[in-house]
Formats: sequence, C-alpha cells, structure tokens
Amino acid sequence: MKLLPFAALGLAAAISAPVALADDPVVIKFSHVVAENTPKGQMANRFKELVAEKTGGAVVVEVYPNSQLFGDDKVLEAMLLGDVQMAAPALSKFSRYTDVLALYDLPFLFQDLDAVDRFQQSEQGQAMLDSISRKGLIGLGYLHNGMKQLSSSKPLRTPEDAAGLKFRIMSSEVLEAQFKAVDAAPLKKPFSEVFTLLQTRAIDGQENTWSNIYSKKFFEVQPYITESNHGLLDYMVVTSKEFWMGLPDEQRAQVNAALREALDFGNQIARDKAIEDKGLIAESGRSEILELTPEQRAQWVEAMKPVWKKFEKEIGADLIDAAYAANTTDNQVASATDGQ
Ligand code: SIN
Repeated sequence: MKLLPFAALGLAAAISAPVALADDPVVIKFSHVVAENTPKGQMANRFKELVAEKTGGAVVVEVYPNSQLFGDDKVLEAMLLGDVQMAAPALSKFSRYTDVLALYDLPFLFQDLDAVDRFQQSEQGQAMLDSISRKGLIGLGYLHNGMKQLSSSKPLRTPEDAAGLKFRIMSSEVLEAQFKAVDAAPLKKPFSEVFTLLQTRAIDGQENTWSNIYSKKFFEVQPYITESNHGLLDYMVVTSKEFWMGLPDEQRAQVNAALREALDFGNQIARDKAIEDKGLIAESGRSEILELTPEQRAQWVEAMKPVWKKFEKEIGADLIDAAYAANTTDNQVASATDGQ
C-alpha cells in the first residue's frame, strides 16, 4: 500500500488522514540459469503471462534467465532470504536440502519421459516434492527438460573411451559416482561456466539435454555427442514457505493455476525441443552425433549400474524399485538396456 505525501494531495486531503492508493502488485522474481528458448525458459515466460491474466495484474512475475540474477548454487539460499521468490533448479541441485531427489540422477533408471511421468505422477513421486519442506521450501511441481546425452572432445562409444577424461557435472554425488564408475574425472561446476570450460579445453566433456547443448552452443565446441539417453535432467519448481503461505488464499490459488498450465506447456516444449534441437545440431555439422549399438549401450549400463547400490540406503530401495517399475506398462516389460 502506498501513502501519498500531504503536499501531493491538495488542501482537502491534506487536512484529513493520509490516503491509501491501490495496493502495489506482489512481485515474484523467477530466477533461472538457462536460455529463453528452452523448456524452462518458455515455461517461465508463459507463467508470467498467465499470472498477469489470472490475477488481473495483482501479481507480477519478473523472469531472470541465463543466471542473470543467481546461479543454481545460490538461488535456494537467496530464496530463503526473500531475495527471489521462485526458481526451478535441476533435481540434481538439491543435495544440500534432501537425499531422496538423488533418485533422479541414477544412471539408466528411466527409459523415457513417459516412464518419468508415470513415476512423478504416482503417490511416491508426488511425495518427493515435500522432501525439502523441512528446510522452509515448497516443491510446487516437476518440469521436464529431457534425457541427457554425453558430449566430448573425443568419440565415446564404450565406457573405456571416457576413462581419464574430465567431465563437468552438476552438484550431485550420484553424478560424481557415475563418472567415477567409468574411470573419468567429474568436476562440479556451475552451468554458466560450462561453455568456457569446454571452449578452453579445461574439461573434455559434459552431460546435458539436447536443448541445453543447443541453446548454450556446447555443440559448437564439442566435436562429438553420444546419444546415450543415460540419465534424466528434470526440474522442481520451488518457492519459500514464507512467501507462498504469505499470499492471500485467492491469489495463491490463481498463481498455482497459472503454474499448472505453464508446466503442461513447458513439458510439451521439452518433448518437442528434444527432437528439434537434436535436428538443428545434426544440421549444423559442427558436432557428430554417435548412436550406440545395443551391445555398446549394454556396456555403459553394466559400468554405471553399480551406482544404484552405492546410493540405495540414502535414497531408499523401495523408491528405486518404484521408479524403475514405472518403465513397465501393462503391455510392456522394461529392461535397463533398452534404448530410448
Ligand atoms: C538447467 O538446465 O537448469 C541447467 C543444467 C545444468 O546445470 O547442466
């Protein structure tokens, strides 16, 4: 609520009490690290439009892409301090807040996004959104980016090809173990530094989705991309309890409805972009896309699968079983060596 100084109100007002103008809008700063032409970038921009429509301008979303405001390493701390109200970090970036989300980093756990959807929509998948609530944060929903591929300065066809190479990873112990399992050297680095690290050859490779490899131009400095589909890069949209519960009920419901619509929109973009951006990379001729034979793929699975056991206690064997079972539908039996 803004109060006008007496001088600005004229004589009549000046002799009465200060006059209240219409309330200032509630501002949601939405910080993210990727480009705007990505599933998360598009989702955030759509969310901004929908919130404006549904709240009639009473809530305003300001979107800050490309790590302009905060990197993923700082954004959750900033949220707890009230400096930012919403973000959607990769699920790999919550290790300081909960153990269970590490599930999503296990290599070769999900065959495709349909399996991921089945698990995330299940009771267990939904309960995982609450895993950060003890820390003052609320998980509002999942967003896909897609399956990860391996890019490198040399062709990677078998796990032996990765031995001795340096790979940038997100801040996750599971991802660290995954690269150590193939005798590679993992380095935890912020997303904003990856292009330069690759360009200067400070690292040899990285893992990411087609949309991130395309939008951040990693393909221009990585001559090979192995279509491994070995892991998942998904997000959790988060806010702080203090901010969320401080919204009036009606506004919270409107913002939540806008988010549901924006997430559906973003999830469709994720599916489309995995195909489109892979095609654009192939067309560019800057990077060769390598397909694995079933035998080669089985070798990667065999080398990386022991990581599941290593994290079974932390994550929970039941949860791992439930997630893996989501690969199976009534008409189909899944195997960890199946291709995507
Ligand atoms: C993101 O998609 O938000 C960033 C992923 C990464 O850090 O590799």
